Amino acid sequence: MAITMKGKDLVSIHDLSREETEQILDTAHILKMKHKLGEIYHPLKGKALGMIFQKSSTRTRVSFEVGMWQLGGYALFLGANDLQLNRGETIADTARNLSRYLDGIMIRTFAHQDVIELAESSSVPVINGLTDLLHPCQVLADLFTIREKKNNLIGLKLAYIGDGNNMAHSLMFGGAKMGMHIVICSPSGFEPDPEVTRLSKLDAAKSGATITIKNDPAEAVQAADVIYTDVWTSMGMETEYEQRLKTFSRFQVNGALLEKAKEDVLVMHCLPAHRGEEITDEVIDGPHSIVFDQAENRLHVQKAIMALIM
Ligand code: CP
Ligand code: NVA
Repeated sequence: MAITMKGKDLVSIHDLSREETEQILDTAHILKMKHKLGEIYHPLKGKALGMIFQKSSTRTRVSFEVGMWQLGGYALFLGANDLQLNRGETIADTARNLSRYLDGIMIRTFAHQDVIELAESSSVPVINGLTDLLHPCQVLADLFTIREKKNNLIGLKLAYIGDGNNMAHSLMFGGAKMGMHIVICSPSGFEPDPEVTRLSKLDAAKSGATITIKNDPAEAVQAADVIYTDVWTSMGMETEYEQRLKTFSRFQVNGALLEKAKEDVLVMHCLPAHRGEEITDEVIDGPHSIVFDQAENRLHVQKAIMALIM
């Protein structure tokens, strides 16, 4: 039976129940089918989504905007210089005002706490479009993509090679919720946040998932069903770029690393990719890569999120 999610925020996958997570994936499947069949479906007719972007975006911006339009609603792009936020208006006041015009707010920003505050003061649902801590919409699309390819998530091993960043954190929460075995392999000093690790291990204990932190990529990818990577230098950390190139050089996803995983391993990347750094052309353009399917599925999964909560 459908669980009502109307009015809920999507700040972290950790806040969703397993049933809600499954409902998002199932709804995304239905919406994807409708779209492929050319069926017009307008459950959000007359509704508006505000999209606050304090950081750049290709996929998130376009998939939310087009997704909202396909659902019959309207999406409003609010760039870093378009709001009074950057001139000192508080997040709480911004939320109270925007709630009077909009039916939902998507926000991409730096501090995760800002999204929590926005959600607390907003009377309409708030969707986290990426913070320094988490990227839940990406990982819901990733879970959907893995399930499409493997017909199942339970018991699959996903090895994430790289920075213990927002992507690593949301993969830990998503994998833990859905019963997967998540291995995060990062250079020493770049491991995931200890609180995210603690909470995801608690979720994992309920679902039969496991969360493991390692430092050796060759060991991490052994028997992996999925290898995942992300940029070594995330948005906002650009001053560390040169240093990170050196620190992460052993953590490249290349042909030699792929050979150590399962023969039918899937290779994933949230994109944008820095080709030649965290992933080689050979791998990202090779037969194991499903990165553009992931990117497409942002559209279908975010449409499901909006249709369920708005
Ligand atoms: N993966 C992702 O969120 O891409 P954008 O930064 O282009 O939105
Ligand atoms: N970790 C990356 C993800 C981009 C989608 C960043 O935050 O820049």
